[in-house]
Amino acid sequence: MGLPLRSRVLGWGACTPSFVVTNDDLAGIVETDDAWIQKRTGIKERRYVEDREGSVALAARAVKDALEMASTDPEEIDAILCASLSPDIDFPGNSALLHARLGLSPRYAFDIRNQCTGFLYGMVVADQLVRTGGARRVLLVGSEVHSSGMDYQGGRGRDVTVLFGDGAGAAVIGPSDDDSHGLLAHRLHADGRMAEKLALLGPSGKRKPRIDASVAPPEDPFCYPIMQGRVVFKNAVDGLCEAINEVLASAGYSPKDMNILLPHQANLRINQFVALTLELEERQVNNNIERYGNTTAATLPLLLTETAAEGRVCRGDLVCFAAFGAGFTWGATLYRW
Ligand code: ACO
Repeated sequence: MGLPLRSRVLGWGACTPSFVVTNDDLAGIVETDDAWIQKRTGIKERRYVEDREGSVALAARAVKDALEMASTDPEEIDAILCASLSPDIDFPGNSALLHARLGLSPRYAFDIRNQCTGFLYGMVVADQLVRTGGARRVLLVGSEVHSSGMDYQGGRGRDVTVLFGDGAGAAVIGPSDDDSHGLLAHRLHADGRMAEKLALLGPSGKRKPRIDASVAPPEDPFCYPIMQGRVVFKNAVDGLCEAINEVLASAGYSPKDMNILLPHQANLRINQFVALTLELEERQVNNNIERYGNTTAATLPLLLTETAAEGRVCRGDLVCFAAFGAGFTWGATLYRW
């Protein structure tokens, strides 16, 4: 049997914590208000884990659904790829922890450190593994617990804190049974010159020693994400439009041909600008940021799971995923579903 021409998403699943944190709830903790958050971002609420649950526990629940939908036994998984900027521990990464937790027996497991584009980059890596014979079944996971890492002190970190939520999503990727279906094209980009426009600076290997008394106190801003919001916003709109246009053109399509665009959920206004620029109709884009905030690497599989459950991703549809995030990194993948 020859190598497959294309990879397909065979199954997917998602998990979000049941604890809902509304904008009003946050306004009781940091200096913000519901009207500001909704007007600038579209977010109404997000989910937070309770107790000490981490991103691996959320991932495990999403994986269960994805395996079931793909009719795949855990033993059939050849490779685990995990994307997370909020792993359970600093190292080893979530892929090793998930491997142990699920009792999987893949030949290899590794982690992708690409923040909001982690799942998107993972789709491309999984595709290459499947098409080159490196794996018959790849388990791709995006999972995040942001709630334990935000700055909740007054007004200092509020621009970032209000944006993020916890969640997980997973997909099983394998060979397509039909050469006309599956991943048609992808475009990935990076510009490391923008690294510190959106970053978490500590703990840092550049500090000697890496951990000292100054890192531990919660009042040290070094320990929280920093962001130049307007720079990120503008670059996100430009980067997403660029990648979506490129990926469509490379497969001989234009924006009007897309059945659905599933974009990263960083800010509803970013996605509205993208839709306007590409002249998309409302039915061609799905967003769920109002209920989850930005779940970084978990966003795309979570949005896929919801969109498919709504009956908006059907066999034969032209489906485009697009993401932009810290690095900066951005890109798009195009599937004939
Ligand atoms: N509540 C109330 N007021 C606030 C808040 C808040 N949560 N945050 C900031 N403000 C205030 C500011 O202090 C400022 O007040 P001032 O005018 O008195 O100085 C005012 O609101 C305007 O602040 P800006 O930062 O200029 O607001 P902006 O319109 O740019 O919106 C936002 C900020 C929503 C963060 C926007 O810039 C954005 O969404 N950027 C992109 C975010 C993003 O895409 N991140 C990438 C993904 S994350 C990843 O990859 C890890």
